[in-house]
Amino acid sequence: MFYHVKDLQFNARVSRPDPRFARILLEAFGGANGELTSAMQYFVQAFSCHNPFPDKYDMLMDIATEELAHLEIVGATIQMLLGPVNGEMKDAAETMDIRKLMDGKSAKEEFIQQAFTNPQCVVVAPGSPMLTDSNGNPWCGSFVSANAELTVDLQSNMANECRAKIGYENLLKFTEDPSVRETLIFLMTREVTHFQQFEAALNTIQPNFPPAVLQTSPKYSNLYFNLSKGEEFRGPWNEGQSSRLKEEWQYIDNSLEEVRKTNGLVDRKPEGTERTEKQVAQMDKQLSDEPSNEVLSATPEKELMWCDYQKSEKGSKK
Ligand SMILES: [Fe+2]
Repeated sequence: MFYHVKDLQFNARVSRPDPRFARILLEAFGGANGELTSAMQYFVQAFSCHNPFPDKYDMLMDIATEELAHLEIVGATIQMLLGPVNGEMKDAAETMDIRKLMDGKSAKEEFIQQAFTNPQCVVVAPGSPMLTDSNGNPWCGSFVSANAELTVDLQSNMANECRAKIGYENLLKFTEDPSVRETLIFLMTREVTHFQQFEAALNTIQPNFPPAVLQTSPKYSNLYFNLSKGEEFRGPWNEGQSSRLKEEWQYIDNSLEEVRKTNGLVDRKPEGTERTEKQVAQMDKQLSDEPSNEVLSATPEKELMWCDYQKSEKGSKK
């Protein structure tokens, strides 16, 4: 259940209207990496872990709801940045006097210029935020990434927070308004906070790599194919040990020759790894039984019920 409190989470303020900045701030509202995407991503992901991971369900719903609060802050900021645009446009019978909006500059010419460069906020939906990016492309459900598997979803969320963070970092380059900057810094900071929260949650799931269940074949997991000719670089991505599976990278300089002599890699034997096909098969079996049993045992066979209201009333903590 949701309810709305008419206080913003952060005290968003604007020193003066700035329709140009309002337009680019739409990226954080209805853009691919905006607050609505984050809110919907964590909200949708939460359903699949209600059983048997109520702790992750709790976190995802808390962060999804905070992202909605951020959407509200961005929307309110856009509305304030648009200042009197909405009122002026409603006054259709009168000659527009928007000197207040444009800091007293030659108002009408300036407003016409705005209409050309800033159609989203001045012409399409004058004076109010829309669920589009800054170029008017509508927000779309396909921006949301949810795979019903926490080791995948939490990593998607960490990447999502990185994109949101740089979005605010870039927006900060386009406004000098100290009040707006304070809001952007708050929003940017919360992305970094959320990144760490998702990372910490991911680390409570062990093993969490490779993501999901199947452990992958040791025949191919540590191969580096040198597939571009010219200046070659070596680094920890193709020499030494791999970061998670701790296997020795096998640098394959002549990829075509390797593919031909191994019957298209099928006959290749694992090299530089202690993992074996047999171990992988055992782990696959063990790891696929565990989550399956956890979900099944946490799901009653009949009378499915999402909430236990008595437990909720006591505010039980796990
Ligand atoms: Fe976030």
